[in-house]
Amino acid sequence: MTKVSPKYLCWYVLLVFCTLVADVYAVSGGDPQSKAPVTARKFMVAAAHPRAAGAGYEVLRRGGNAIDAMVAVQFMLNLVEPQSSGIGGGAFLLFWDDGEKRLYTFDGRETAPFAAGPDHFLAADGEPQPFWEALAGGRSVGVPGTLKLLETVHRRFGSLPWAELVRPAMDLARSGFEISSRLARSIASAQEHELDGFAATRAYFFDTDGTPRQAGTVLKNPDFAATLARIARHGSRPFYEGELARRIVEAIREASNPGLMTRQDLARYTVRLREPVCVPYRVYRVCGMGPPTSGGLTVGQILGMLSHFDMAGLPRIDAVHAYLESAKLAYADRARYMADSDYVAVPVRGLLDSGYLKRRSALIDLSRAMDKGRPGNPPRLPGPNWAIHKQSERAGTSHFVIRDARGNAVSMTTTIETGFGSRLMVGGFLLNNELTDFSFRPRIDGRLVANRVQGGKRPRSSMSPTIVFKNRKPYLLIGSPGGSRIINYVAQSLISILDWRLGPRTALEAGHFVNRNGVTELEQDTAALHYAAPLRERGQDIRAREHNSGAHAILIRDKELLGAADPRREGVVLGD
Ligand code: DON
Repeated sequence: MTKVSPKYLCWYVLLVFCTLVADVYAVSGGDPQSKAPVTARKFMVAAAHPRAAGAGYEVLRRGGNAIDAMVAVQFMLNLVEPQSSGIGGGAFLLFWDDGEKRLYTFDGRETAPFAAGPDHFLAADGEPQPFWEALAGGRSVGVPGTLKLLETVHRRFGSLPWAELVRPAMDLARSGFEISSRLARSIASAQEHELDGFAATRAYFFDTDGTPRQAGTVLKNPDFAATLARIARHGSRPFYEGELARRIVEAIREASNPGLMTRQDLARYTVRLREPVCVPYRVYRVCGMGPPTSGGLTVGQILGMLSHFDMAGLPRIDAVHAYLESAKLAYADRARYMADSDYVAVPVRGLLDSGYLKRRSALIDLSRAMDKGRPGNPPRLPGPNWAIHKQSERAGTSHFVIRDARGNAVSMTTTIETGFGSRLMVGGFLLNNELTDFSFRPRIDGRLVANRVQGGKRPRSSMSPTIVFKNRKPYLLIGSPGGSRIINYVAQSLISILDWRLGPRTALEAGHFVNRNGVTELEQDTAALHYAAPLRERGQDIRAREHNSGAHAILIRDKELLGAADPRREGVVLGD
């Protein structure tokens, strides 16, 4: 057994006490700092901007279903949180159809142009391009999937007319919206990475004298209003095959750092219906998205390993240590095995095999940190043992959750990758830089990397939209932005809610502990820092760090919906 000094015991008791008090507030809906109602009975939406949550709320109030609301939320996010997501990007959707009692997972991830090859991000000397050099311009842009995803899913499951769902964003683009503080800060900080280097983008986000537009400024986007008017009338066709397609390809090919996308790439884009990736955890079933995201698999591996520990009963510090160790092991497998399974053989079943995860969990020593997790040898390993992909992703992205009055549920993570994506703007929206989620190096030490660039392939993601089931019914909808830390943010919230019984709001507010198979990051200026000394004693390499999660969650009880928005961003929860 680990010896705990009285000093840490005091900290621990204080931490548990504060957590309990905060939790009582959250569960009773009486949180004094609540930005919006946190409880509802019939329906609820939580999204990263009040306008976006509002658009979803209005649809639900008029009797629209979760898919209708999803369409309205995404178009509105594109307008008011343009740095994070939109029709120029990609998304993963989990949709629970309560009529069919079926969970659908849709993949609207961007694809590499067919002409792209493994050397896509290699400079003339054979070395990888610097990240920001690769990012700005056309080269990093993947064929966008979000619009096709919205249209495909709405055609199949939507109940309100498409044009009505596009209209709120279109009207607001015309009349103008106030730049939020977060958007203003993002514009100012992206200036150092060439946000003002492209004419259309500069004209939209900067004053004529080159000053970043300030919070509170009313911004109109007539180009986006015109784009949305087209989409309202003709659906996704102008975007993938018509006038917008022509302009997108032109912008990419004529940029200073040109890309290879063709009109054929756009015309050939397809949304994929994938198998959900589910793991049992305690009395729950936790379901996520499979490849090309590593999210569902890595979250699933962490939980699969932790199911061999009594996370609720262990002293909190031991539980946190166990969590960090399981994350190291899961991220090690992620770096070797996870990529687009349409292109490389990913051992999906082997990675979640219960015997394999039990063996992996046996590597966790509660008294000593491992230096680094090594990838394991999952059963049913098809194909070669890939090299380890060492690249990490940057900031951008949004997550929202919706539960409608009929019991349907949406958990969707949506992105243009880095904040402001490739910096290229066409038709009033930004184009993604998702291709930088590929490994820039196709080979490491003579071995191929699973996540190398290949024509038509989808870059590996970390996005982890999740739905937890209890008694076969959706119990918790959750997800977050945050690049490769997403997996940690989501897995930690799941442990907090499912094992530690925190209310969703308290769970989302709690300071993060993160490990991506390297240093342990404890979130700066939070109570998580109290873990620093005892974790260091066990050998964890600790850093304090700012964390930029943006999680949204809805907990579904018999007669009540309990929603939460991450206080680190501007999101709200709305419901009736
Ligand atoms: O697909 C991915 O995992 C990344 N492109 C997501 C980037 C992201 O979440 C940035 N968020 N703050």
